[in-house]
Amino acid sequence: MRRAVCPGSFDPIHNGHLEVIARAAGLFDEVIVAVSTNYAKKYMFSLGDRLDMARETLASLKGIVVEPVGDGLLAEYCRQRGVSAIVKGLRSSSDFDYELPMATMNRQLSGVETVFLPAEAHYLHLSSTLIKEVAGLGGSVSDYVPRSVHKRLLAGGSAPDQPPRG
Ligand code: PNS
Repeated sequence: MRRAVCPGSFDPIHNGHLEVIARAAGLFDEVIVAVSTNYAKKYMFSLGDRLDMARETLASLKGIVVEPVGDGLLAEYCRQRGVSAIVKGLRSSSDFDYELPMATMNRQLSGVETVFLPAEAHYLHLSSTLIKEVAGLGGSVSDYVPRSVHKRLLAGGSAPDQPPRG
């Protein structure tokens, strides 16, 4: 069983993410879409809503599991689940500059490799941040997100998650 992880905060998941996840599913037996929460960051959507959006939009694809990363290291999460590769989409050289140190660190921590997939040209400009900004200012983002995500963007965000105690 060749298992990969597509990690991210997915705040919210968009069509660029979905395209990379679908391609990863064609390369591996199982793909875990691992939704992270960094309590230092401010998200529009709670972890529960980010998981729901990913599950709703990936339900029709085979071999995909959606779950939270938890509070620990991604490298440790991969080691515990026997993950062969972390899969990331690359839109630009700045994505590469951001991703390369993490890929190296993750390999040194647990031996897990990172596989980069070049983003589809049509989605090179997409980011969750830009989609939230455009939607928040009344622009149309329906071409860039699945229907259920679009509904939630129009409805506004969810209450923030509480950090774990201790
Ligand atoms: O969508 P994002 O916020 O760019 O995703 C970043 C993510 C989840 C890939 C990264 O923050 C991560 O790996 N978080 C887990 C904690 C961890 O392992 N940190 C050390 C990375 S080398």
